[in-house]
Amino acid sequence: MGDRNASISSIIDARGAGSKRYRAVAAGVAALRRGELVAMPTETVYGLAADACNARAVGKVFIAKGRPRFNPLILHVHSAHAAHDLGIFNEDAEKLAEAFWPGPLTLVLPRKAHTLVSDLATAGLDTIAVRVPAHPVARALISAFGGPLAAPSANLSGHVSATTAAHVAADVGLAVSAILDIGPAPIGLESTIVACTDDAPILLRAGAIPRGEVERVLGKPLATPSADPDKPRAPGMLASHYAPQATVRLNATSVEPGEALLAFGPALPEGAEGAVATVNLSESGSLAEAAAGFFAAMRDLDRQAKKIAVVPIPDEGLGEAINDRLRRAAMPKA
Ligand code: TXA
Ligand code: MG
Repeated sequence: MGDRNASISSIIDARGAGSKRYRAVAAGVAALRRGELVAMPTETVYGLAADACNARAVGKVFIAKGRPRFNPLILHVHSAHAAHDLGIFNEDAEKLAEAFWPGPLTLVLPRKAHTLVSDLATAGLDTIAVRVPAHPVARALISAFGGPLAAPSANLSGHVSATTAAHVAADVGLAVSAILDIGPAPIGLESTIVACTDDAPILLRAGAIPRGEVERVLGKPLATPSADPDKPRAPGMLASHYAPQATVRLNATSVEPGEALLAFGPALPEGAEGAVATVNLSESGSLAEAAAGFFAAMRDLDRQAKKIAVVPIPDEGLGEAINDRLRRAAMPKA
């Protein structure tokens, strides 16, 4: 038999505190120790977690996601202290870690030499992406496991991220031993990724912490990734990403026949009553509410229509991350 047979995943209830959650975490730790994959809920999205120091386990992540090998993973650790074992912090990195950890911030740092982390997890780069998640189930899993967990979002490569246990089961259910179910991930968008590898910190991925908040803590503006191949970029930020099967039409001011509608705010566009299906991300116009439901809405509309019209979403605060995901979702697939 051996561990090459992907087991059928079990969804384990990890909601609420107490012994139920404890048992769920214990089952997760046991699976991770066997070199198996566990769906780890975080405050942002569900992650597909593996023992970062076990190359065979990390390899299973790439296979389960159908992910290009060159795309490195985020290392999830329990504390800033543990993160210092993996990466080299400059002054900016220290400030950001102090302000935002535990929480939805990922730092890309020069990688420390001689860590036990598998080269496969960092794709052989000399930098490392590290974050300290805030969700108590992620925290319990990491601390009980006792080492860094490599975890990309728990979706098929290029697909919409998973924000519920059911999304995880639909995309990678056959490859994970356990899905720790906390219900919908509270934030719903991935972490903000900032590279602190030299003087100018770079926003590699807009995410759950708005740019403005990061800049306030840094006391300076974030740079955007340059075209220079020697400068840090997020290899996973491919043009087409977070993509549904359906065609996505942005900044729609009307709904055309056959289209589903992704709405935002109290006013609906012209022809909205004829939409094949409608999801309003937030009738009151709250970007936080919109972020929390965004990926679930994309999956929902994708099941019901071949075209999705999306109304304009304000590009401020969390809107920057939502619009980033939407632009990639709308790109022609390679
Ligand atoms: O909220 C999140 O960040 C979730 C949860 C599970 O923690 N994780 C997540 O991971 O979104 P993933 O693998 O879907 O996206 C990680 C991104 C990829 O675009 C990858 O290219 C980039 O981080 N990345 C990882 N290591 C990097 C490095 N050393 N330099 C630049 N980018 C890196
Ligand atoms: Mg992802």
